[in-house]
Amino acid sequence: MFALRRSRSPVPGFDGRIEAERVALRRLASSDTSAIVHYVNDWDVAKQTASLPWPYPTATARDWLLLDAERWERDKEYVLAIEARDSGELIGALAAYMTLRTLSGTGRAEIGYWLGKPFWGRGLASEAVGAFLGFCARDLLLTRLHAYVFADNVASGRVLEKCGFTIGRILARSYPSRGGRRLVHRYARSLP
Ligand SMILES: CC(C)(COP(=O)(O)OP(=O)(O)OC[C@H]1O[C@@H](n2cnc3c(N)ncnc32)[C@H](O)[C@@H]1OP(=O)(O)O)[C@@H](O)C(=O)NCCC(=O)NCCS
Repeated sequence: MFALRRSRSPVPGFDGRIEAERVALRRLASSDTSAIVHYVNDWDVAKQTASLPWPYPTATARDWLLLDAERWERDKEYVLAIEARDSGELIGALAAYMTLRTLSGTGRAEIGYWLGKPFWGRGLASEAVGAFLGFCARDLLLTRLHAYVFADNVASGRVLEKCGFTIGRILARSYPSRGGRRLVHRYARSLP
């Protein structure tokens, strides 16, 4: 057993839950471990992300969850669970990262997300990302977001387009754990 280290949200005004029609966004909990392990161990999910470990052992998920509060506070990496409102279960996750290129304080961040395969194709990711935009603007005080999408990830590009992102540069980048050099599309949008 382990306990998720909890601390007060460093984001003023964020009450820990954002409700959309069919999904809710909330902070991660130690009880999410098995769902995360189950869904991320699917190569079809992991292969479209730049950095999700694969395979994904339970111990890795536990370690990752234990550091959630630290990532929020120290690393400015804001990860939220995507919960199905009908079941109350975690079905995915999304995050805004202040990377080296998007230093904290510039109002810019990169976003990333994944959804368990059984939930694909129902508009849930678009709903979750749409709700996340409000959180990024209102609670994180961000003014511009971007995302990198592998060129063959049509579904993710479509999610971003539906959420108001437009495609910008097309780059070739090295992703050793994802087959080497890959073409990626950079999407971006401003927040009101
Ligand atoms: C990308 C992902 C989050 C999409 O989740 P989802 O809930 O199925 O997405 P939505 O249903 O909201 O939207 C998907 C859109 O792509 C479209 N789409 C899906 N596959 C497609 C394909 N092969 N060709 C064209 N359009 C496609 C869908 O029709 C839908 O568009 P529509 O609403 O206009 O019909 C999910 O597939 C996933 O988690 N993939 C693995 C991880 C990943 O790719 N993360 C993003 C990294 S940048």
